[in-house]
Amino acid sequence: MSTTPRPRNNNWLASIIVGVLWSCASLLISTIVSQSRLEPVVLAAAGQSNGRSIWDGVYQDEQRRTGAQLGKSTCAQCHGDSLGGDSAPPLSGPDFLAAWTGKSLGDLYEKIQTTMPADAPGTLKPQQSIDLLAYILYLNEVPASDSRLEVDRPALNQIQIRGKR
Ligand code: HEC
Repeated sequence: MSTTPRPRNNNWLASIIVGVLWSCASLLISTIVSQSRLEPVVLAAAGQSNGRSIWDGVYQDEQRRTGAQLGKSTCAQCHGDSLGGDSAPPLSGPDFLAAWTGKSLGDLYEKIQTTMPADAPGTLKPQQSIDLLAYILYLNEVPASDSRLEVDRPALNQIQIRGKR
């Protein structure tokens, strides 16, 4: 049994260093966290005011015609005629647009491409999901234009969904 007291000075020094390092680290972490929280909010706000939306002419009439045929054969059994809702929710109307407001066409594309039709997800070709997207926009009274909707995720992500003003 040793009765020699341990030298404590080193411990104090160590705890001061650890304390200083810890406060620096937590300051750094909280700065990063607060910035990463702010950024999407700022970006979303910018997207809503200046960004392109579904109302800016994003699909062609011919695309929604192709989409309509596909919709009748693959989606109507659950979503109803003209996808107005049946055992599955409606894909048109103010409630639908309200629920998707603040999201992008890229998000809606992803939903269709990866989860629909619910009884056979993953069976749609990307181009088919695009045509269905055009049909869904048409059903929501979004006008067609000369501009084709392309299978292009970054471009789809730039197009905001929102209700008619
Ligand atoms: C077997 C039934 C079934 C079929 C077929 C089906 N769906 Fe769905 N769909 C559902 C159900 C149930 C939901 C609600 C649950 C969910 O969001 O996953 C849904 C939800 C959706 C949503 C989200 C609706 C919302 O309000 O957010 C979209 C978009 C959609 N389906 C598109 C399609 C398209 C396009 C097709 C045709 C390719 C299709 N679905 C075929 C059952 C189906």
